[in-house]
Amino acid sequence: MLEVKEASGMYITDVNEKQYLDLNSGISVSSLGHRHPNIVSAIEKQVNSYMHTMVYGEHLQSPQLHYAQLLTSYLDSSLDSVYFVNSGAEAIEGAMKLAKRATGRPEIIACRNAYHGSTQGAEALRSDDDFLRAFLPGLPGISHIDFNDQSQLHLITENTAAIILEPVQAEIGVQTPKNDYLKAVRQRCNETGTLMVLDEIQTGNGRTGALFAHQKYDVVPDIMTIAKSMGGGLPIGAFVSNKELMDLFTKKPMLGHITTFGGNPVCCASAHAVLKTITDEKIHQEVLAKEELFHSLLKHPIIKEVRSSGLMMAVELTKRKYLKHVVSQTIENGALIDYFLFNDRSFRLAPPLIISHDQIHEAAHKLLSAMDYAQKQYTKKS
Ligand SMILES: Cc1ncc(COP(=O)(O)O)c(C=O)c1O
Repeated sequence: MLEVKEASGMYITDVNEKQYLDLNSGISVSSLGHRHPNIVSAIEKQVNSYMHTMVYGEHLQSPQLHYAQLLTSYLDSSLDSVYFVNSGAEAIEGAMKLAKRATGRPEIIACRNAYHGSTQGAEALRSDDDFLRAFLPGLPGISHIDFNDQSQLHLITENTAAIILEPVQAEIGVQTPKNDYLKAVRQRCNETGTLMVLDEIQTGNGRTGALFAHQKYDVVPDIMTIAKSMGGGLPIGAFVSNKELMDLFTKKPMLGHITTFGGNPVCCASAHAVLKTITDEKIHQEVLAKEELFHSLLKHPIIKEVRSSGLMMAVELTKRKYLKHVVSQTIENGALIDYFLFNDRSFRLAPPLIISHDQIHEAAHKLLSAMDYAQKQYTKKS
């Protein structure tokens, strides 16, 4: 395990002065790389002004306002209210509560093989019974459907408060929506009065090539959750909805969701710098060309398939046994890649969006030589 000494731009340096090209972004967090000057200066400025004055709501804290205004200016006009929280899991919790509060319905549907966080509500959305068995009793009223299977959408009914899904499923190893799946979900939600919650915690802030993935796939959710890259390395999340819907948290009961540090002004200042830099510099608009370059370079006999939506990529290997060798040898070669939670044949590639074309070549070189190494391990043995 590497012990981090510092991180800057695309690189992380360990205490032995070895440099690693970051192809993980700390699981889709550092989209602008490490310690981007705009982020650092926004944080410094806010720290020198104030860090925390009151819990959520009582004081108007301008970093919250500025971020919410900027964010909603890039969203459909129906997504005009932002509730700040501390993490992705808390954003999911907020969305689940809001859906139950708004509809009065007892059931929530999630997709199999999704990960939405590790608190009890978010974790209850998992379809992995073996995992959940360790934490019984679970949350009632949760059931699952298979992503991309439109024949199961009839399971969304008038009893369903919400369906919660990612626009691109991450932890199964990058599953993109096929045949207008998200539009079909939207349609079924409209028919049943169910809220469509899109978890953009990994896909947000340009990772898929659109600023938010629902824009790429041309649907508008009732609630969107964001976190990870939002804070540029500081912990923050949010759920976003229509104001009328969000206002339900202010009555019956009042204070329907409260959080001491949600919307921390330093984190909001950082989030504002992230979104402003991405949009000012149109960084998300370069993502598809970078995705294509990765595809053109990642050719090797032990690669079965490269799946991606923008720079959210999974490289599936022909045999499971290669995976740990490829991951460890790539790290040895000086580039960081990682596993997925629910796919033991594929590794994750989610570099900072600022990766240059030269660095993509550098990444491919390190990856392909690790694949040569992995292949040789078994050629030698047989
Ligand atoms: C799609 C998705 N949703 C939610 C979460 C939970 O976010 P957090 O770890 O900030 O609670 C994650 C974290 O990996 C995620 O990938």
